[in-house]
Amino acid sequence: MCGIVGYAGPRDCSEVLVSTLTNLEYRGYDSAGIAVFDEKNIIETVKSEGKLSNLKNKLETLGKPEGHIGIGHTRWATHGEPSDVNSHPHSAPRVTIVHNGIIENYQELKEFLTGKGKTFISETDTEVVAQLLDYYYDGDPITTIDKVMGEVTGSFALGIMFAEFPDRIYAVRRESPLIVGVADGESFIASDVTAILQYTKNYYLLEHDEIATLTRDSVSFVDKYLNPIEKELKVADWDREAAQKAGYPHFMIKEINEQPTAISTTVNPRIRGGLPNLDECGLTLDILKDLKSITVVACGTAMHAGMVGKYVIEDIARVPVNVDIASEFRYRNPIIGEGDLVIIISQSGETADSLAALRLSKQRGAKVLAIVNAKGSSIAREADMVIYTLAGPEIAVASTKAYITQISVMYLFAFELALAKGTVSTAECKRLTSALQKMPEAVKYVIESVDEICQYVGSKLITADSLLYIGRGLDYALSMEGSLKLKEVSYIHSESYAAGELKHGTISLIDDEMPVIAVATQSDLIEKTISNVVEVKSRGAKVILVCTDSCANKIKDGIADYKIIIPHIDELLMPITAVLPLQILAYYTSVNRGNNPDQPRNLAKSVTVE
Ligand code: F6R
Repeated sequence: MCGIVGYAGPRDCSEVLVSTLTNLEYRGYDSAGIAVFDEKNIIETVKSEGKLSNLKNKLETLGKPEGHIGIGHTRWATHGEPSDVNSHPHSAPRVTIVHNGIIENYQELKEFLTGKGKTFISETDTEVVAQLLDYYYDGDPITTIDKVMGEVTGSFALGIMFAEFPDRIYAVRRESPLIVGVADGESFIASDVTAILQYTKNYYLLEHDEIATLTRDSVSFVDKYLNPIEKELKVADWDREAAQKAGYPHFMIKEINEQPTAISTTVNPRIRGGLPNLDECGLTLDILKDLKSITVVACGTAMHAGMVGKYVIEDIARVPVNVDIASEFRYRNPIIGEGDLVIIISQSGETADSLAALRLSKQRGAKVLAIVNAKGSSIAREADMVIYTLAGPEIAVASTKAYITQISVMYLFAFELALAKGTVSTAECKRLTSALQKMPEAVKYVIESVDEICQYVGSKLITADSLLYIGRGLDYALSMEGSLKLKEVSYIHSESYAAGELKHGTISLIDDEMPVIAVATQSDLIEKTISNVVEVKSRGAKVILVCTDSCANKIKDGIADYKIIIPHIDELLMPITAVLPLQILAYYTSVNRGNNPDQPRNLAKSVTVE
């Protein structure tokens, strides 16, 4: 997704902009640019298609703009192909802007402006906003921005420079996130606090339609009625090191290795007297005991965490759980109302479809519990109740440590719900909770023990065009995540299938060119899954079996081409360790194919547009 940065202060602005944009690279982008007020207070803009290295080369060749105030951008193309001309910043005679999000009525506005004699050089909706700001410019940036905010529709964030005000930048947002950072004698804007952690941890969250004015030594805000407002200064509890690679070749493998800590940080504070306790968000045993059904709504990996939650909650708490894809839920006239609990799961807390699902659920009278990683994000703020996953900053586009903390929270929730419903005894709940608390050690062990075999198997997969993941029950829920992980970072097509469903059509795809990854960790289902493995094997498929040591003993030699064996633990908790070989396999397959697993093509970390 596009990334916005801005700076006002004593440092070399071009350097600050490039370094803060580098910190936002993880969001995904296909071009980048900066605009800086130079020594003569003229705005100089440099932009380039492709990676930031292209922009850096251009800055070296052309000479970087020398100045102390400016804005920068990484663009993830929506309107118009990735190209130098479509890259941000975009300018009109008196205004230069960077923009994240979508201006929904840009065609209409473009026609209006064309009728007024304005011409456009790019295909972007952003240039339309730049021209509109210029058109309405009345000498006062704030009233001009306010006028334009009244005309544009959509969800977006903007960083703005007015040629006549070389000592400042402006920022405004509607829906898309934007923060204002402050340090001694300098100020920043950024799409996300990780961009500026190397300079400051102090920041303000800009709310919808508020306008910020930043100079070197001051930041001020007005609300949507243009009244000056005081805002609460926040302090990021993520430090710079957490957002750096710390010697690992990629963020993805660093974050895989951070999972033991992520689980303990998330789980331990929510345990009291050996039992899960989610009182912090207002979920008491009294509320839980009256729950009749639950709907989990999320996208991608977060939705897969919801699938694991469904199997666990239904199994032990006997409460029906419906898991929905947010982009479907929001347009499907869902049956949700008073007395219902909707759980929205999101790492970023800014995913547009999940946010829309949250708002729809609240409108219809449901209570919304958000399970979110990014503190202060829109989903966290708008939900009735929040449980934060404490995974720390997740920089790699492919989610790993966020997923493991999301499922950890689903376990805590399921255990407490089961206790409230009386479907498990206190002793059993304590046993399960204690097993969950031991997961960090188990995870650490599995990460180390499967590394070599995953590297080896990953090297065998590099020529595959297509793969199938199969499993039953919790293993099916897990194979969905394994399949997504592989396809997003390796670019190999893959699907996950409930193993028992194969014969109803999909088995026709199986031949010796289609490897099958079978996940088999549930002892009551192992025989069924193995019979599906035998079916695909006899049709030529190469089989990679991910199973527990106790299941492995039941499987005859020759059934699988490669076995990835992990220790048997409480079977309800198996997804926590069984996801590890799937993540690590995806990682090595990506690296073996020469991809950058941290920034897979076409993907954005935080999907703030529909
Ligand atoms: C895949 C991945 C995505 C996200 C999805 C939801 O590795 O990261 O599928 O899970 O875009 O994002 P959040 O959790 O930020 O709502």
